[in-house]
Amino acid sequence: MLVGTAVRWGTKHGFMRAGIKAAARQGDEQARFFDDPAVRADPYAFYRQVREAGRVVRGRLMWATAHHDLAAAVLRHDAFGVGFTDRPLPAPIALAFRFSRRSSPIGPVDPPSMLVTDPPDHTRYRRLVSKVFTARAIEGLRPRIEQTCAELLRDKPTDLVADFAALLPVTVIAEILGVPLDMRRQFLAWGNAAAPTLDLGLPFSTYRRTERNIRHVNDWMRGHFARLRKEPGDDLLSQLVQLDDLSEDELLATAGLLLAAGFETTVNLLGTGAWLLMRHPEQLAVLRDEPQRWGNAVEETLRFDSPVQVTARVCRRATEFGGEAIQPGHVVMAMLGGANRDPAVFADPDTFDVTRANAREHLSFSGGVHYCLGAALARLEGEIGLRMLFERYPDLRPDGTPTRRTTRVLRGFETLPVTM
Ligand code: HEM
Repeated sequence: MLVGTAVRWGTKHGFMRAGIKAAARQGDEQARFFDDPAVRADPYAFYRQVREAGRVVRGRLMWATAHHDLAAAVLRHDAFGVGFTDRPLPAPIALAFRFSRRSSPIGPVDPPSMLVTDPPDHTRYRRLVSKVFTARAIEGLRPRIEQTCAELLRDKPTDLVADFAALLPVTVIAEILGVPLDMRRQFLAWGNAAAPTLDLGLPFSTYRRTERNIRHVNDWMRGHFARLRKEPGDDLLSQLVQLDDLSEDELLATAGLLLAAGFETTVNLLGTGAWLLMRHPEQLAVLRDEPQRWGNAVEETLRFDSPVQVTARVCRRATEFGGEAIQPGHVVMAMLGGANRDPAVFADPDTFDVTRANAREHLSFSGGVHYCLGAALARLEGEIGLRMLFERYPDLRPDGTPTRRTTRVLRGFETLPVTM
C-alpha cells in the first residue's frame, strides 16, 4: 500500500512540489501562492500584484488571473474543463499512476467526484443531488438550523471555531446525509486531516495523512451504505442508495464530497464572519439597527475573505483567452479571492462594508456548471449562525491571537479564542 501511496504522491504532488520549489527559486511570482508563508498570511497584496501584471499572467507552472471578468469567464468557458487526472504524463509514469489508482481511496477531489468530472458524467451526478438540494428544501431547514444554533450557543464559547463554527455545519450536513450525530467529532477530525488534499505540492508525510483519513471515511461510508440499503431513512443518502443509479465508487465520491464540502468551507465563513464583525464594531452596530442586512453581511464576508481562495481549469482545445493563446493541457488558475477585490467591480475593495450594494457579485461559490451546489445552504447557515451568535453574545470579543489554518486553497481560522 505504501508503494501505491508513494506513486500517487509522486504523480499528484511530488513533481509539482519540485516544480513549485524550482519556480520559486527562479523568482516565479505564482509559485509564491503555494510556497510563500507571507502570501498565506495575507494573499491580497499578492493578488493585486498578479492583477496589475496583466489580464491573464503566465507563470512557469500555469496561467493565473485575478480579474473578476476573466475569472468568471474561465469558469464558464467551454474550451476549459476540470479533468486534471487525464492530462498527458510520460508513458511509464502514466502506467504507474493507473496501477496505483486501484488501491487509491476516493477523496473529494478524486474521480469520480463531480468536482473533478466534466460533462456528461458531471451532469448525471449533479442532477441526482440537485433533486434533493432544491431552494425550497434548503429553506425548509431554517427552523432546524435555528434550533441547532440555540443548542450550540447555550454555553459560552471559548474557542469560536471548536465550540461553534465547526460544529454547526457538520451537524447540519450530518443530518442531511443521515449520519449519526455522535460521528460529528470523528468526521471533523478526519475532515481536518484530509483538508490539505485540495492544495498543490504537498510533502509526502502530509499527503500520506490525507490518504489515511480519506480511507477511514471511505470505510465508514461503505458500512453506512449497507445499513441504509437495509433500513433506509428519509435522508439524502438513503435516497441516493435506493435510486441504484450510482456505482459504489460514485456513491462514495458523492457522499464524501457532500460531507467534506458541507463543513470544511462553511466553518471558515462562520469563523471569518465572526472575526470581521468583532473587529468592526461599527458594522455590527449597523446590523443591530437593521437586522434585515444580515444576508448581505454574509455576502460581504464571502467577498472580503473567501473560504475557497482559488480554483483552476485545464484547457481542452487551443483558444484565445484574455488576449493570450492558451494551449491544450495548460492550466488557468482563477484567483477567486483576488477577483473579489477587483476595483473594476467593487469600489474601495479592501474595505469591509456590510451595506455594499453589489457584495453578492463575489465569485466565492465559483461559477458555470460547477457553481457550488451547497451555496443556498451555506448562505442560510451563515446568516442564521452569525445573527444568533451576536444576538446571544453581543459583547463577544477576541481573546488573544487567533491561529489560521495552514491550508492555502481553503482559508479560515484554526482557533479563534473569544471572551465576553
Ligand atoms: C461558505 C461555504 C462554501 C463555499 C465558499 C463553497 C465553495 C465552493 C466552490 C468555490 C466550489 C466550486 C469549485 C470549482 O469551481 O472548482 C464548490 C463546489 C461544490 N460545493 Fe461548495 N462551498 C460552500 C459550501 C458548501 C456546502 C454547505 C455544500 C453541501 C452541502 C457544498 C457542496 C458543493 C458541491 C457538491 C460542489 C461541487 C459542485 C460541482 O462540481 O458541480 N458546498 N463549492
